[in-house]
Amino acid sequence: MSNVVVVGAQWGDEGKGRVVDWLAEKADIVARYNGGHNAGHTLVVDGKTYKLALIPSGVVRGKLGVIGNGVAVDPEALLAEIARIAELGLQVTPEVLQIAETATLVLPIHRAIDAAQEQLRTGTTGSAIGTTLRGIGPAYEDKIGRRGLRICDLADPERLSAKLDLLLAHHNAWFRGLGLVPFEKGPMLEGLLQLAPQVLPFVGRVWETLDKAHTNKQRIVFEGSQAVMLDIDWGSYPYVTSSTTIAAGAASGTGIAPSHIGSVLGVSKVYATRVGGGPFVSELDDPLGEALRARGREYGVNTGRPRRCGWLDTVQLRQSIKVAGIDQLALTKLDVLDGFDDICICTGYELDGQRIDHIPANDAEQQRLKPLLKRFDAWKGSTQGLRSWNDLPAEAKALIGAIQAEAGIPVAMVTTGPERDDAIVLRSSF
Ligand code: GDP
Ligand code: IMO
Ligand code: MG
Repeated sequence: MSNVVVVGAQWGDEGKGRVVDWLAEKADIVARYNGGHNAGHTLVVDGKTYKLALIPSGVVRGKLGVIGNGVAVDPEALLAEIARIAELGLQVTPEVLQIAETATLVLPIHRAIDAAQEQLRTGTTGSAIGTTLRGIGPAYEDKIGRRGLRICDLADPERLSAKLDLLLAHHNAWFRGLGLVPFEKGPMLEGLLQLAPQVLPFVGRVWETLDKAHTNKQRIVFEGSQAVMLDIDWGSYPYVTSSTTIAAGAASGTGIAPSHIGSVLGVSKVYATRVGGGPFVSELDDPLGEALRARGREYGVNTGRPRRCGWLDTVQLRQSIKVAGIDQLALTKLDVLDGFDDICICTGYELDGQRIDHIPANDAEQQRLKPLLKRFDAWKGSTQGLRSWNDLPAEAKALIGAIQAEAGIPVAMVTTGPERDDAIVLRSSF
């Protein structure tokens, strides 16, 4: 069995964590390659709910979790998460978690910059991105600006201190310019040196671990965070996150060779949600959207924000499949559509009276798109917890068939509830 990358095919929160958990049964390693604690991945196992942000979902099955160089790691958030998981009876030790020595550090100053940038943006453009305010974007900015701190710096107090000087010289000029209180080095350095002995035991050469695993024919699942439409290059810029979310990110974000990535499983809900600002052509700003939110419990795992809800958008899905290299789909949350009278999917866009089948690059044009909807017959009764294709109502089968035809790639799995085994597996290639 080949390695597999799991990628969100919409705007995030598709159920990637539970799909990774399912794949992890037959895997040896689960590797995160992008994002940070802006992610919230939920696993429900025998009634116990695990909400993971930085920790790879595979650790719940006792598999080795690795955090690659492409991840932005807030050491405080990491240790808090390890403590939270311990309360659920799961010990995350250096035997089950390895963090790349070159992963970027997220610091309290990044959270302050995140908040200030959102305010600036609102003041000038009238609309914020709606970030998670975790400091993820500013941490990646520092990485690209070549002044970022990395996990390995925690082992060298002198170099850490010098690097903080550069970081503060850069950011404090900006803080002062905006009339904001500048940061002081002393408490920052002290805080990091206090955290260092707890974090450093987890640090290692992730690229080497993965290379050895691959050579020894072990199987690696790469757990994407966020989603194609939040990708820095392929998402609805500027309403995106600051990392490479697509399958290509698995290579640059862990050190695995692109040729060792076997297949790419895209995860999509049978409807759509988005948190934060940005275009959402098939959004339902009405009682139907509210019903999706209520039935699907569409509130952010980390921030608790209500998610915007709408119909599945197959124009967006098709384009995401192409640019992310997705070759199979996992469709999640079918049970949420139980009891709806009308079910639609968006199969095309209208822009200024013309039909188009792609997402325009220009964000002003994106805002003017109108969805072309196709209606499907709803089903009676419940699909909740169904585990066999034969038990599905004919209308549900027709909807899944239509999504597969629109997507142009096979549906490998359909999920019918949040519990680990609430799923119908259609292809055994995993
Ligand atoms: P991720 O970020 O892609 O891992 O997804 P999240 O964990 O943020 O959001 C998915 C939410 O949907 C979680 O609360 C899951 O427990 C829940 N969920 C996942 N699959 C299903 C499903 O098939 N049915 C229902 N009702 N809930 C599901
Ligand atoms: P998972 O992995 C959904 C969104 C934010 C905001 C934009 C930028 O659970 O699917 P950021 O804090 O990253 O700078 O915010 O991206 N966002 C997510 N939306 N799921 C996520 O992660 C997200 N991570 C970031 O709401 O619109
Ligand atoms: Mg999530």
